Formats: sequence, C-alpha cells, structure tokens
Amino acid sequence: MDGYLETLKKIISEKESIIGRKLTCQVTTFGCQMNARDSEKLLGVLSEAGFIETNSDDADFIIYNTCTIRDNANQRVYGRLGALKPYKKKNPSMKIALCGCMMQEETVVEKIKNSYGFVDLIFGTHNLFDFPRLLVEMYERDKYTEIWDDTDIIKEDLPVKRKYPFKSGINIMFGCNNFCTYCIVPYVRGRERSRKPEEIIEEIESLVKDGVVEIMLLGQNVNSYGNNLENPISFAKLLTMVEKIDGLKRIRFMTSHPKDLSDELIDVMASSKKICSHIHLPLQSGSTKILKAMNRRYNKESYLELVRKIREKMPDISITTDIIVGFPGETREEVLDTIDVIKKAEFDNAFTFIYSIRTGTPAAKMEQVDPEIVKEHFDMVLSVVQETAKKRTERFLGRTVKVLCEEANESDDTFIDGRMSSNTVVHLKGSKDLIGKIVDVKLTEFHGFYYTGELV
Ligand code: SAH
Ligand code: SF4
Ligand code: F3S
Repeated sequence: MDGYLETLKKIISEKESIIGRKLTCQVTTFGCQMNARDSEKLLGVLSEAGFIETNSDDADFIIYNTCTIRDNANQRVYGRLGALKPYKKKNPSMKIALCGCMMQEETVVEKIKNSYGFVDLIFGTHNLFDFPRLLVEMYERDKYTEIWDDTDIIKEDLPVKRKYPFKSGINIMFGCNNFCTYCIVPYVRGRERSRKPEEIIEEIESLVKDGVVEIMLLGQNVNSYGNNLENPISFAKLLTMVEKIDGLKRIRFMTSHPKDLSDELIDVMASSKKICSHIHLPLQSGSTKILKAMNRRYNKESYLELVRKIREKMPDISITTDIIVGFPGETREEVLDTIDVIKKAEFDNAFTFIYSIRTGTPAAKMEQVDPEIVKEHFDMVLSVVQETAKKRTERFLGRTVKVLCEEANESDDTFIDGRMSSNTVVHLKGSKDLIGKIVDVKLTEFHGFYYTGELV
C-alpha cells in the first residue's frame, strides 16, 4: 500500500504545481455506520495524498461511497451524479469516483457506464483497502474500474481521518451470512469474517491514545462475532476485553441480530460500567409468519421474551429497532402483529422502512403487496411507533444524566448537541469547549424525541 501512496503523493504534487494551488476533494457517504467508517479511510488517504477537504461540488476529486439497501438510496446517488455533469464540463481535469455497496451490483455498473460516462473510477466494497492503488490507476489510465466478487482479505492499514476526534466506529467483522430474504447486504458485502480480538484491542488502544472516549463496535450482526475465527471467541468476551481498556469511557455496538443475542451478553452488559444503556435490536416484523418468510429465525414470542429478559436485568435500558412494512404477502393482520409487538416492547425509537425490492434476493420473486395498501400500513405503524417511543423516552425528564457533548447546534451555536448513554439526543446551553467531554446534565424539557437540559 505504502508504495502506491507515495506514487499518489507525487501525482498530486505535480498537479498542484501545474494549477498553482492545493487540490480539493469531497467525500460523500450514503448508508450505514460501516460506510461512514469506510469514508474516514477514503478521506484519510486523500488527506495524506495532499488533498484539502471541501463540501463543494466544484472539487478536483469527488467520491460517493454508495449504499443500495433500498432503491431510494440508489436514486439519491443518480440524482447527485447528474448534478455533477456541468461541473465536470467546466473543469475537465476534475475526477469523479464511485465506490461502496451499489457498485457490487453488475446492473448498476453497466448503467453508470452507459448513462454517466463521465465517472472516472469505480470500485466496490471488497477492494477499498487498495484505494491508493486504485487512485493511481485512475490518474495513469484516465478511467478505471475494478470490482471484486468477494474476498477473505482483512486489511485495516489505511490512514484514517475521523469525523469526530473523540469518538470512533471500529469494524470488528465484515460481511453477513444471514441472508434475510429481503436484504442485499450479503450479496454486496460478502461472507461474514471477524477480525482477531488482539487487532481490535490494539486499534482501540491507539484510538484512545489519540483522544477517543467512545467507540462503536461495528458489524452486520455483532452477536455472531468470533464464530469463524481460528480460536473462536464470543462477542460478550470481546466486550469484557474492550471494557478493560484504560481511558475508554463509552462502548456502543451495532447491530444485534435477535436470533444470536446470548444470556452471556445480557449479563456482561448489565454488569458493565462502560457499555452504553442502549441496544439496537431490529425486529423487522412482529408476525411469526412474515419473520419466517424473511428467514429471520426468531418469532413474535421469542422476540418479546428476549426483550423481557433484557429488561429484567436492565430495566432502564433503551431498546431501538428497525421495522419493514410491506414485505411480500404481508396482510393487515400481520401488520397488527407488528403493532402489537411495538406496544409491548416499548421501543425508545423505531426506524420504519417501506419494503424495497432488491434484485437478486429471494423476496424479489415473491408476490408483492399493492403499494397503496403498503402506504396505509406504513402510516398505521408509524403513528404507533411515534406515540410509544415518545411515551417511553419521556421517562428521563427531570433526571440528571451523563451526556457526551458532540457538536455545536446547527441552528443556534450557543447550544451543544450531545448524547446520553441511551443514545437520546440532548441540547444544552454551553460553549464549544465542552465538545468531546462527558458532563452531567439535568434534563429540563422533553421535545418528543430529544431533550434540552442544563449543565449541573
Ligand atoms: N444487519 C442489520 C441491518 C442492516 S440494514 C440487521 O440485521 O439488523 C438496516 C435496515 O434496513 C434493516 O434492519 C432493515 O430494517 C432495513 N432493510 C434492509 N433491506 C431492506 C429492504 N429491502 N427494504 C426495506 N428495508 C430494508
Ligand atoms: Fe441484511 Fe439480515 Fe444480514 Fe442484517 S442480518 S445485513 S438484515 S441479511
Ligand atoms: Fe447500505 Fe451497504 Fe450499509 S447497502 S446499509 S451501506 S452495508
């Protein structure tokens, strides 16, 4: 990798001397926390190579790190891409690159080549670790595409430029083996593979030395972490190792598949001082019949039992979830099952999505529900979600809680936005010096899904 990074630096500095200024770059992220973490690597390489970051569309290099979880993610990329065409016309030396999950789909790459011929570099999720070389190829050959089908390579040695100095995501595993029938992720992110615990601990230790106080362990299903390692280890064990790292104050993780959430994990969470009081536990559907068709491998009762077990040990924990409405064959009765679970589980928040057909997945071939009916069902679910989430999250009002201050409020910079252990957002009056610090805040007003509070 180093060799290519050096070559890249030379290419960029030659360009700088021709145009008489530093080159600018824009990295735009679509999709989940994994993509956000990948983008920090893209920006790390670009910064090291000499680029200056910008938000502007007239940058010298633009890369979109794409997502294809639902069709609207793809449409946003095409929309943004179309808007870049005039900039490229004005500045022909501008370079445009696409990477990430969407690029792992053959039909997408074909469409880009046919309709967006001005894109200069295309690569996928499996060869992101090779970004310096891919950039060199692009500059040397003008246009370059390289997509790998899958990989078992785990290489995490790219320079990283973090969005926040005080918190960071960290990959503990890649890919997914679950093949939920609606989901494209196993096809675009490949088979599940875990990083060795020693490497994870080492990376977190160096992050902490660099000022990080909160980390988020990332994987499509962290509960199956370690299964395929030479020396298998459970996710709960990994957490106990992470807990011991001095200077680290908060631990989060995403995502937990309900079928693999162990009693050991519940016990480790309940006795931890650092693991945040929050678990994201995607339900997807409350109907046992739909869950079966989704290949989720749990049912309505076992999900509710799991929630009961978690709350028994951690009564105050925040549980959030994802819900899909409009999965093939879903009837009103099954939607009512989902609503029943929402009411009983009392989620702190639920991200509700309309089912989106993903070509190549088993559900794409199943009988689809009329979009009008789906919209009706979606509105029904959403109103229950909003009502129950509000009721549940209100329990914090009047309490004094620990808040990690994250950034100045966008519309009023005399306020700081931070997060409670439960992941609930808090706005508090205070100066930018607070950013990165964990402070005690009294929650004085509840606004439906976030709080305002005062420093105590
Ligand atoms: N690995 C995580 C989910 C990653 S995708 C897990 O298993 O929980 C994030 C969310 O997107 C999923 O939880 C699901 O609710 C939603 N999603 C995935 N595929 C979808 C599709 N085809 N249509 C609508 N929503 C989808
Ligand atoms: Fe997709 Fe299911 Fe894997 Fe999550 S667990 S990424 S929903 S296939
Ligand atoms: Fe999207 Fe890929 Fe994440 S499809 S949700 S960016 S794993």
